[in-house]
Amino acid sequence: MPRVLTVDARQPDARNVAEAVRVLRGGGLVAFPTETVYGLGARAFEPDAVRRVFAAKGRPRHHPLIVHVTAEDGGRALASVWPEAASIFARALWPGPLTLVVDRKGTVPSVVAGGGPSIAVRAPAHPVALALIDALGEPIAAPSANRYQQLSPTTAAHVVKQLGGAVDLVLDGGPCEAGIESTVVDVRRWPPVVLRPGAVSIAALRALVPDVVRGSYSVSGDDERAAPGMDARHYAPRARLTLALTDDVWSLALAATRAGTRVGLVVRNALAPEDAPPGVLVRRLSSEATTYARHLYETLHELDDAGVETIVAERVPATDAWVAVADRLERAAASGTQS
Ligand code: TXA
Ligand code: MG
Repeated sequence: MPRVLTVDARQPDARNVAEAVRVLRGGGLVAFPTETVYGLGARAFEPDAVRRVFAAKGRPRHHPLIVHVTAEDGGRALASVWPEAASIFARALWPGPLTLVVDRKGTVPSVVAGGGPSIAVRAPAHPVALALIDALGEPIAAPSANRYQQLSPTTAAHVVKQLGGAVDLVLDGGPCEAGIESTVVDVRRWPPVVLRPGAVSIAALRALVPDVVRGSYSVSGDDERAAPGMDARHYAPRARLTLALTDDVWSLALAATRAGTRVGLVVRNALAPEDAPPGVLVRRLSSEATTYARHLYETLHELDDAGVETIVAERVPATDAWVAVADRLERAAASGTQS
């Protein structure tokens, strides 16, 4: 089991941050909170440490990692070209849940980038993450701190549950605010393309750069500009997840219960719970997308921990506000695994 140090999310204790820096300098892995999900961090310029991140996650080597910096100049230092769009987004939205894909500078180890020519960079808006990068004095490569294709962690306990001793130290800063990963935008070409919808809405991006387009990140989509590492199955609980239209939620749950499986239901607040079949674990999430997103992974972790075998989740509206949540639910429900 890893060591876990509790840190105040607003004012992280300098001694605990210094201990995390010591572990990173020694080539170790430190999980830390960000405003989106917990990251599994290693020194970005230490290829051996970065390789340990891939091993700890069981992640294929060609899936690039995000490099975390504290501000725009840190991102710029990793890029061979820093386009105007990168400046606009970074100035307005960093630190924040936005990842920019830019051309990689030759000095950035290729292993971090999954061997590719680009690099994803972001400045996270979490005091613990910022304090850690700042105290280390170097960028930190960090994917979400979960096993490959499994649920992302929004608490330190989620990290420990999945990664155990594969991580050396976990900084526990409490639950993550956004609860869903950053929005990934490729700014290498015009117009900028959203590769992964996330905590920053497309409307917020378009308010800055109206030309932003959505990439084909649909689960079946397979586009030249799709993000490497965007497998159909991803963000998945252990339980089998099925998406249902609002009207079909109860009948699907009932059918699964009758077939003898332990069923969990994830519905939005608008749905009346009276009709829930007996024995079904019902989790009610907000009818508002941001609040729903904050609790989604936590809820799926809970249902997994309760030993549920089938999760029926009510489909969410097909509106812009719900794009990121809908993407994660569809990937969690996708049955085909790829490697
Ligand atoms: O919110 C987040 O982004 C969290 C926190 C820890 O920062 N990190 C995260 O990392 O979600 P990860 O590795 O689980 O997901 C990063 C995704 C990859 O799956 C891939 O789709 C995309 O970002 N990505 C990373 N590098 C890329 C690159 N060079 N080109 C295109 N897409 C890239
Ligand atoms: Mg991830």
